[in-house]
Amino acid sequence: MTQTPTAVPIYQTATFASGDAEELAAVLTGEQPGYAYSRIDNPTVTALGDAIAELHDAEAGIALATGMAAIHAAFLSLLRAGDRVLIGHVGYGTTRTQAISAFGRLGVDIAYVDTTDVGAVEAALRARPTRILHVETIANPTCVLADLPALAAVAHEHGALLTVDNTFASPALCRPLEHGADLVMESATKYLSGHSDVMAGAVVGPRDRIAAVRSALIDTGATLGPFAAFLVLRGIPTLAVRMERQARTALALATFLERQDGVNGVIHPGLPSHPQADVAARILDGGGAMLSVDLAGGREAGRVFFDTLRIPERTASLGSVHTMVVHPPSSSHRALDASQLAAAGITEGLLRISVGLEDEADLLADVDGALRAARAATAAPSPA
Ligand SMILES: Cc1ncc(COP(=O)(O)O)c(C=O)c1O
Repeated sequence: MTQTPTAVPIYQTATFASGDAEELAAVLTGEQPGYAYSRIDNPTVTALGDAIAELHDAEAGIALATGMAAIHAAFLSLLRAGDRVLIGHVGYGTTRTQAISAFGRLGVDIAYVDTTDVGAVEAALRARPTRILHVETIANPTCVLADLPALAAVAHEHGALLTVDNTFASPALCRPLEHGADLVMESATKYLSGHSDVMAGAVVGPRDRIAAVRSALIDTGATLGPFAAFLVLRGIPTLAVRMERQARTALALATFLERQDGVNGVIHPGLPSHPQADVAARILDGGGAMLSVDLAGGREAGRVFFDTLRIPERTASLGSVHTMVVHPPSSSHRALDASQLAAAGITEGLLRISVGLEDEADLLADVDGALRAARAATAAPSPA
């Protein structure tokens, strides 16, 4: 009888020894399955790639060092000088800077388009041949949505591939391959691992495309370590229950905020008022735990709200068991004026909230207190 471990073991090794020269050569060239060197493949890391592929119902998956490494390797596997990439005008800032610094500089044309407007995307695709249309299922930081089936249809009609960053949704809410995407990236630093204690990324898709991503990873070396892979594997079994509970609290918080004075608007995919509620109904299994709130008092209200909160962590990350809040105009986007912020789809009073597992009543009371402080700080002085 053989007893098997119930957790995936951590293969903490850089090298794997082969029996003889022939076996080593066969493993290195891929003629024979096996392991030689952990930059190329490692059993713990392979198990993670396979697990994320399974969550997405994908043919294949690969785990990498970070979400940015996943996007980089996916793009590298597809692009040549002279190609064009269309990216959503609202989305994670580092994806734009990577596109420009790693690919634009080497002759790839990077252009932006409002991906919430399928007509505008089609016009941009018609204007010039495009290799990649890249979108985020739920966009960072505003929580607008990508209508994946419609975008996949127009991309394919014009000979482009649709790549989707599914980080804000996670496979618990959305599996973009089911909606026509060609490759899907995840920052596993977020919901997949769930505890904000590890950096990791993944790409899933058809077997041949993942093989090309693997080649890019082997050449560039953004390899995930086995212990990090183990931590993400440990997070995955609780993904669905974390998301369910976090989404419930997020909807309660969004509903509460929407009714308060001093709030211009709340965008959460679970709210009936979401401008793309129809898209949410078609592509998401629930509203998720990310929301954005726009405070009427602008940058100062946002700053006071942010500084007054007691429970959430003031951090630019998301997808954790801890609630995390960021006010881009006073942190990551501090250098931008109102018009530059508007071009990035961000208003001065915008906060992004990633709802965690804290007690709902505690969280609502804390947010209520911060909102009162923000209103008091920005109220017009009463006439003397
Ligand atoms: C939507 C999105 N994609 C990708 C990333 C990058 O992930 P990582 O920090 O794991 O490289 C982030 C990080 O915040 C993100 O929000």
